[in-house]
Amino acid sequence: MEHKAILTLHEEFAIGEVDPRLYGSFIEHLGRAVYGGIYEPGHPAADEQGFRGDVLELVRGLNTPIVRYPGGNFVSGYNWEDGIGPKEKRPRRLELAWRSVETNQVGVDEFVDWCRKAGTQVMMAVNLGTRGPEEARNLVEYCNHPGGTAWSDLRRANGHADPHNIKVWCLGNEMDGPWQICHKTAEEYGRVACETAKVMKWTDPNLELVACGSSGSGMPTFPAWEATVLDHTYEHVDYISLHTYYGNQKNDTPNFLAKSLDMDHFIRSVVATCDYVKAKKRSKKTLYLSFDEWNVWFHSHEADRKMEPWQVAPPLLEDVYTFEDALLVGCMLITLIKHADRVKMACLAQLVNVIAPIMTVNGGGAWRQTIYYPFQHASLFGRGTALNLNVRSPHYIDAEFGEVPTLEAVGVFNPQNDEITLFAVNRDLEKSLPLESAGQDLSGYRVKEHLVMVHPDLKAVNTLENPNNVVPTRREGAHIAGGKLSAELPAASWNVIRLAKI
Ligand code: AHR
Repeated sequence: MEHKAILTLHEEFAIGEVDPRLYGSFIEHLGRAVYGGIYEPGHPAADEQGFRGDVLELVRGLNTPIVRYPGGNFVSGYNWEDGIGPKEKRPRRLELAWRSVETNQVGVDEFVDWCRKAGTQVMMAVNLGTRGPEEARNLVEYCNHPGGTAWSDLRRANGHADPHNIKVWCLGNEMDGPWQICHKTAEEYGRVACETAKVMKWTDPNLELVACGSSGSGMPTFPAWEATVLDHTYEHVDYISLHTYYGNQKNDTPNFLAKSLDMDHFIRSVVATCDYVKAKKRSKKTLYLSFDEWNVWFHSHEADRKMEPWQVAPPLLEDVYTFEDALLVGCMLITLIKHADRVKMACLAQLVNVIAPIMTVNGGGAWRQTIYYPFQHASLFGRGTALNLNVRSPHYIDAEFGEVPTLEAVGVFNPQNDEITLFAVNRDLEKSLPLESAGQDLSGYRVKEHLVMVHPDLKAVNTLENPNNVVPTRREGAHIAGGKLSAELPAASWNVIRLAKI
């Protein structure tokens, strides 16, 4: 086969509408995500509430519409009441998930304020580890009830007259994992999630609820966990969660870049399980997926094992991302968009310092990691209708995945500005890949820009001292002639090709 890829590009060859919440992210009370990340009173860039303005600016640049909070594993031991009211009265607590000390100087009210400043919404998780339906419904009442009850009036007394109106809520976190504080069996979790969902929706019928799926497709209980949990909760929840993290521990880049195929398989299996329960229950309701933790995570494992316990905001999970990590993040974003019909929300885990696109130094600067850019491109240009490109691509053979397509690609048509954007990764580490479109006559379009991320060193990183080592650049050459798009994707590259109407 000729070394060339062909895409069938047609505005009407739709997969589904991209929910903007596909470009969500995550802030957990973990390491320096909150303290030293988004919040650092006394920092030269801090505002009157102690939020770092330099970090807010970098977050705004991602245009992320929703941020999950406050965990993660943290939430399964969290008393949300510790984080409200006068700061000097808030307790310091031993935090068992990450073996740290939590000062509670940031809580739900501050996080809502931060989200407003960042131009995003909260996705709130409730504690179904050490706590249960009572504390969850109280939190909904505190956040969303207008006033005239004990909890809503307490919010008002704490300086928030208007309700927070938080719409999306996660029913716990990774309850299938033995590492989770008060880990549960699928039966135990399914029952408590169902009863918690009921009281939360009775408190505020506008909520959208996410039940915990498996914390990874490698879990021994996957996918029976999903089937059992949904058996209990199907009519009471709106989404089931998925989580996955990949690493290049073997230093085998072709294999690493193929790992988005595992993500694709995971999504397909969860969709199948949801639809099995739907059929079993003769339900008319379709369940959607919330991929509310995904990323590359492995660089920091060794350092974290050596971390002293019981520190305030220790530097945990501080992965320094390489150029090849950005390529896999690109492949994962493409995979999420390819499933836009069923995956309606997703959270890049996480946002600042902790396995994050944004890094800071305490008292110092902030910068963008390599993975910032593919996420930013997808969030800015990947809104509209996801298009099935019916990719025909050369492939390579990997021992774990078999045939791996050299090209990973998806399209998005934005009817608001009549633009079509192609997102594409060339997984070939040696050869560039010529690309051509078939299908729709594209004579009415022009190439607005072709953004590319390439670097001669797969392990290149951005640092405080060298923050622009790995950045996207514009590439010339992509064009439309005779109604067809032609472009060249450099070896090992992330590409964004934007087509606009002439
Ligand atoms: O994102 C880091 C951790 O990964 C989260 O706390 C947990 O949910 C997952 O295991």
